[in-house]
Amino acid sequence: MPTIESFRQGDRSAIEHLYRRVFGADMAEANRLRWDWQYTRNPNNPATGPLIWIAREGPAIIGQYATMPVRTRVLGADVDAAWGMDVMVAPERQRQGLGEILFGTWDTNVGASLGLGLSEGSFRLFKKLRWPNVGPVPCLVKPLTRRAFRHPKWPTPINRLIGALAYPVVKVVARARPLRGETTTTRQFDERFTALWDRVKDRFAFAVRRDAAYLQWKYIWPPHVRYTIATVSRDDEVVGYAVYRHAREPRGKVTLLVDFLTDPTDDAAFDTLVRFVDRAARDADSDKIRTFCLDQRFRTMLRRNGYFEVASTMEFVAKINAFSVGEAFYTDTGTWHVTLGDSDQDR
Ligand SMILES: CC(C)(COP(=O)(O)OP(=O)(O)OC[C@H]1O[C@@H](n2cnc3c(N)ncnc32)[C@H](O)[C@@H]1OP(=O)(O)O)[C@@H](O)C(=O)NCCC(=O)NCCS
Repeated sequence: MPTIESFRQGDRSAIEHLYRRVFGADMAEANRLRWDWQYTRNPNNPATGPLIWIAREGPAIIGQYATMPVRTRVLGADVDAAWGMDVMVAPERQRQGLGEILFGTWDTNVGASLGLGLSEGSFRLFKKLRWPNVGPVPCLVKPLTRRAFRHPKWPTPINRLIGALAYPVVKVVARARPLRGETTTTRQFDERFTALWDRVKDRFAFAVRRDAAYLQWKYIWPPHVRYTIATVSRDDEVVGYAVYRHAREPRGKVTLLVDFLTDPTDDAAFDTLVRFVDRAARDADSDKIRTFCLDQRFRTMLRRNGYFEVASTMEFVAKINAFSVGEAFYTDTGTWHVTLGDSDQDR
């Protein structure tokens, strides 16, 4: 019978070996690169170390659940939560109940258990265990060039025709609009960002605490991606930030608007940020900007700024254990702030 125990430093190489068997060599190498940052430098780690559970059988490791601890704001209260991330069971031991035990161990040890962007296997297991399904997190795209409408499955002449037809729309949607505040970029999240979080945190029924320490770790320190951070200020106060990066995809260049925060009623701050990102995307020659956003008020402002909602595959499950929230909490997600920057979605 396997036993479930907390991670110990000496487990690293056995976990890496298991990761390679389950996810393949490329993903294992990417995981190795991120590991220290992701699991040991997280400012929300408990004093006892990373929040990782290991399934052992004798000397062998046959499964793990590695999670990302975060502080969340849930209905006006602070809740210690953790995103479930790298869960795996040795191939020869899958579908025998070990995953269920690992999910249960994680869930009983956190105030809220959260999952974002799930594999088919884990999504089904969450379903089987009746975790509340609050996803998918809507995806929104803003076209900047006619190439934004290309589809990989369409033949070139069709793609050209669609591009030509879409051109007038793109010209209107992608036009430059004036900024309405003082903007800059930064590499240092300081206490002004914690103050912003404290001012807006209770505008959301659910959101991960975006204080300076978390933001610095999440968006400045990662070894695998480099982000740009745009900020908007008013009277020496930071009233919003946006995190973005440019990426090459098979169909063209895309700017990913990974995370952002303003007061959701502060249209001027929000518009300024997305227009700043528009300019950066155009300067980088991107064909489109893509973002993921659950909060209805931010989505309304995104649409007003030329974004269209497209199909999303970013599934999201959440289970609050710290106190009783009632079923309606999980169906009314219009004031939940969840983005691509949450969990470890932007790898
Ligand atoms: C996902 C995973 C951790 C589940 O662990 P497990 O020990 O196989 O899970 P359990 O035996 O406790 O539960 C099995 C249930 O999980 C779901 N499930 C697991 N693997 C599945 C798969 N390949 N396809 C569909 N459903 C799957 C099903 O609901 C299944 O129930 P069923 O057997 O009655 O159909 C394991 O399958 C795994 O390591 N998969 C590969 C890595 C992976 O996808 N990790 C998730 C990253 S987000």
